[in-house]
Amino acid sequence: MKIYHKKNKLSTHIGELKEKDKTIGLVPTMGALHEGHLSLVEKALSQNDIVVVSIFVNPTQFDNKEDLVKYPRTLQKDVALLSTVSEKKIIVYAPNAEDIYGQKVTSDTFTFDGLENEMEGAFRDGHFDGVGTIVKRLFEIVKPHNTYFGEKDYQQLQIIKKLVELHDIPVQVIGCSIHRTDDGLAMSSRNTRLTNHHREVAPFIYRTLKSAKIQFGTKSAKKVTEWVEKQFKMQPLLKLEYFTIADTSTLKPVKRKSKEKTYRAFIAVYAGDIRLIDNIALN
Ligand code: PAJ
Repeated sequence: MKIYHKKNKLSTHIGELKEKDKTIGLVPTMGALHEGHLSLVEKALSQNDIVVVSIFVNPTQFDNKEDLVKYPRTLQKDVALLSTVSEKKIIVYAPNAEDIYGQKVTSDTFTFDGLENEMEGAFRDGHFDGVGTIVKRLFEIVKPHNTYFGEKDYQQLQIIKKLVELHDIPVQVIGCSIHRTDDGLAMSSRNTRLTNHHREVAPFIYRTLKSAKIQFGTKSAKKVTEWVEKQFKMQPLLKLEYFTIADTSTLKPVKRKSKEKTYRAFIAVYAGDIRLIDNIALN
């Protein structure tokens, strides 16, 4: 498997592949890869000749310094895992901050038609400016035909679609469903940092989302939200940051249900100092 640390060498190689009419898929990641990431890579492999997996813990999207410092970095293990999927068709791009940012590690400022102000945008200052900056640069370096993002970070997926639309970037953005462990917990690189106690109770998050979905069939968003908040008050190991039922296209909280619209429930929870997010389609 080819591993590049420098964008210039990677771009040259991709240029050669494109001359041979190869299609290129891009899967951006921050590493500490798990089966959720691999499901994106597998989908990309099924739709492209070559798949570039970027592995870069992007500093500008972290609003919490400690989270950035403690974020797992496991490049060798990640490469070994990827080679179990395909040795020849995957290219890893693992740059350092300088290769992406030069000497000034700062984000550009973006607007995404207001999507950036909801949920994760409201609770994580500057997060989507950081995400927009890194993903736009990766698109410029790799120039992929297709790119793959997980619904696990549903707001991020919608924001990337908006980035592509607003900046006229010639890439197709493909959303991939959420991969879960057998007990329902959405897979996340942060799960490895959970204490045993927190790991044991964490499936409560998805169980509550599933109950919320059933209740949303007959109850108002407000009633469902109150019920969820009450459940978390009775669960001392998990601290609810937000639970929101939102319109899937605007990501604004639903005020009055409409049959023409689709909705999702979004949740962010602290398990100790580890922040977990999840979401579920409601209709
Ligand atoms: P990261 O958290 O590493 O996730 C990389 C991609 O994998 C994202 O598109 C994410 O939604 C997807 N993913 C993670 N866990 C998943 C799961 N359980 N099921 C399905 N997909 C899952 O998201 C980021 O990195 C960064 O913000 C990034 C886009 C790389 C920019 O730095």
